Amino acid sequence: MVHNDLVLRPSNTPVAGHDTMMAVPSSRSPLAAPLGAPLVAMVGGGQLARMTHQAAIALGQNLRILATSADESAAQVTPDVVIGSHTDIDDLRRVAAGAHVLTFDHEQVPTELLEKLVAEGVNVAPPPQALLHAQDKLVMREKLAALGAPVPRYTGIERLDDLDALDAFAGQVDAPLVVKAVRGGYDGRGVRMARDLADARDIARDYLTNGAAVLVEERLALRRELSALVARSPLGQGAAWPVVQTVQRHGICVQVIAPAPGLTGDSAAAAQQLALRLAAELGVVGVLAVELFEATDGTLLVNELAMRPHNSGHWTMDGSRTSQFEQHLRAVLDYPLGDTDAIVPVTVMANVLGAARPPAMSLDERLHHLFARMPDSKVHLYGKAERPGRKVGHLNFLGADPTDLQKLRERAELAAHWLSHAQWTDGWDHHAAGDDAKRKVR
Ligand SMILES: Nc1ncnc2c1ncn2[C@@H]1O[C@H](COP(=O)(O)OP(=O)(O)O)[C@@H](O)[C@H]1O
Ligand SMILES: [Mg+2]
Repeated sequence: MVHNDLVLRPSNTPVAGHDTMMAVPSSRSPLAAPLGAPLVAMVGGGQLARMTHQAAIALGQNLRILATSADESAAQVTPDVVIGSHTDIDDLRRVAAGAHVLTFDHEQVPTELLEKLVAEGVNVAPPPQALLHAQDKLVMREKLAALGAPVPRYTGIERLDDLDALDAFAGQVDAPLVVKAVRGGYDGRGVRMARDLADARDIARDYLTNGAAVLVEERLALRRELSALVARSPLGQGAAWPVVQTVQRHGICVQVIAPAPGLTGDSAAAAQQLALRLAAELGVVGVLAVELFEATDGTLLVNELAMRPHNSGHWTMDGSRTSQFEQHLRAVLDYPLGDTDAIVPVTVMANVLGAARPPAMSLDERLHHLFARMPDSKVHLYGKAERPGRKVGHLNFLGADPTDLQKLRERAELAAHWLSHAQWTDGWDHHAAGDDAKRKVR
């Protein structure tokens, strides 16, 4: 449910907030344009833009995207495409021209270009001063610490001359170190676990020599990783989905469990409140994902922020009343936000990652076999060429009973592996099982 109060709610019940308690009329209501539906411009042509486009269609809105090529995931399916670069001000101007709002499917647009667009009257959501906290891991950490959010101990190194600060930091924390490029990383790229101090120095030196500032932090012993996903509108309305568990392998998310199993009501509510507070304090407009670490003692710490629809919210496409893509559109256009309730007790999302060697069987044929075995699977494919480790789609499985979780997770894993590898890891033979499959064998 979405409420205009900031009441703590138990367990995984979504909480919602309203950070401007006055009834401030929106200055940018899409209804202000009496003729025609709103036009949203999105920078980026990846799967997030593609799925945002699906939501825009349902709402009768138009989505224009800035893609680097016509075969990008969203460019394949969206008629209104500007081909260009997110680092070129003229391309950005072209995509923003006449749009109600300019938003993003990635965080890579340089701040100074966004500031230029704002100065020219473009409604940028999230605004550049908020987005900066999702673009630069060091700026983000410093801001989070200043706002009193719990974060891993860290230090920033911006110049090769300051490399000795790493030794001093290592002496203070007395823990294994993680070295991260402050900009440009995703899916674990730009994140390196150091073997020891000398290795940490080598990694940091590499980044710094290539002109990238680094964030050095303690490597925490993690019980698991969580994500608190919220949305905030310019009017200040906020809505939080249930907190989820994200399962990572080699720095990349492979599975999401919604809600996070066994998370106490107090912890879930605290994580939701923290995410809503950060959204309000940073002035976020749109979806905000707060990636969290659950330490072995149960403490929650903030890892990083993303200000756009996020992999940890893909489950909402089938498992929640309002998908994150619809909510992002509603938020950036300042509509009232949608209900964030889960519609079933448990949803499991699994990413389909390109296999090391793509199988000979076509993806479409794999899909036939998947549906024959698992007719309840909800499939979302991105139209991307299969490359090792690349996210090419995801699946959602909905469970009617929380005790289904283990079974759902196993099925999601089997299905995702099947779609990437054309192999059933449990030895299922779809030819032998053909008749059974027709009778809905799982
Ligand atoms: N301080 C840390 N302690 C333990 N694991 C970490 C730490 N920082 C990152 N990781 C692991 O690396 C993954 C990727 O790091 P993250 O900073 O989220 O980078 P990315 O931008 O690639 O998502 C995390 O999801 C987590 O599994
Ligand atoms: Mg991350």
